[in-house]
Amino acid sequence: MDPRFSLVLISLVLAFTALFDPSSGDDSEELLIRQVVGDGDALLNPHHHFSLFKRRFGKSYSSQEEHDYRFEVFKANLHRAKRHQALDPTATHGVTKFSDLTPSEFRKKFLGIRSRLHFPADANKAPILPTNNLPTDFDWRDQGAVTPVKNQGSCGSCWSFSATGALEGANFLATGKLVSLSEQQLVDCDHECDPEEPGSCDSGCNGGLMNSAFEYILKTGGVMREEEYPYTGTDGETCKFDKSKIAASVANFSVISLNEDQIAANLVKNGPLAVAINAVFMQTYIGRVSCPYICSRRLDHGVLLVGYGSAGYAPVRLKEKPYWIIKNSWGENWGENGYYKICRGRNVCGVDSMVSTVAAVQTSS
Ligand SMILES: *[C@@H]1O[C@H](CO)[C@@H](O)[C@H](O)[C@H]1NC(C)=O
Repeated sequence: MDPRFSLVLISLVLAFTALFDPSSGDDSEELLIRQVVGDGDALLNPHHHFSLFKRRFGKSYSSQEEHDYRFEVFKANLHRAKRHQALDPTATHGVTKFSDLTPSEFRKKFLGIRSRLHFPADANKAPILPTNNLPTDFDWRDQGAVTPVKNQGSCGSCWSFSATGALEGANFLATGKLVSLSEQQLVDCDHECDPEEPGSCDSGCNGGLMNSAFEYILKTGGVMREEEYPYTGTDGETCKFDKSKIAASVANFSVISLNEDQIAANLVKNGPLAVAINAVFMQTYIGRVSCPYICSRRLDHGVLLVGYGSAGYAPVRLKEKPYWIIKNSWGENWGENGYYKICRGRNVCGVDSMVSTVAAVQTSS
């Protein structure tokens, strides 16, 4: 498409959004707050909302100065939530537990994909699967292949949750048992480097890549159970991997081409998939299907694709489109009980760009 045409199109879309957004053009705090927190409390002021936020998420600040600074950040995030709502009308955006963080604090503490723009050419490519008999709705949670939502805390270790989540599913398919696996083992022990990007190595709370994690697991022999090697969310601890306590091992892993039908076919056949995404809209996400008009494809967060759906989502501007169901690692008090829904169809936020599937070997434990 002619880039000038895209720009015109985007401007038109934005203009229409502004037209149909009842609060745009009137930037009063009251309208904004009504929109982000729902009706019925329009008389409350930002101070009151900040109090509710602090109580709900158990926030306390070390000094008055810190408190006042966080209040300013909170107010700025209310405005961001409003902008996200206008750009992403099929989702609900508003106050989340990340509402007192600046976008860069959020990126540093809660994401953790070592950004790479190109398709990983180094890894094995998944064989092309038939796509004609795919179910219209599918969710690995219904099969008992997904562990409860975990919480990475303020550590950029999303990549380890994404990788263990995929292996938990693969191991379930190989052994019939769902075993929660240790992210901390990857945080402490995995220093595997990306063969294509020199200097880009898995580094605990400072980020990593799911494919590198699979490579590490393949080389080291496997991953221990979550209970045997519990998550601490801290960096720089010595590796406590015990080979005699391996609970799941990687047989092989491969990358899936940028094709949504292939992604769906691999998901259904091989279990939950490790995917990367741009998480900018996730800081303010509360629920429903996210489908922003504009979203960067710079990948900065690792998550787990567990299913897809087609119902319950009828945007005005598009005909009904299916969505991906994504397990996140920010606890159950984020998003839809820890989950995120994002529309399928046009690689929104780069969700189709870096998708990996893993196969597990059967272990005796
Ligand atoms: C990966 O491993 C699984 C399980 O051992 C096996 O069935 C499958 O054929 C392997 N795939 C590739 C591409 O080697």
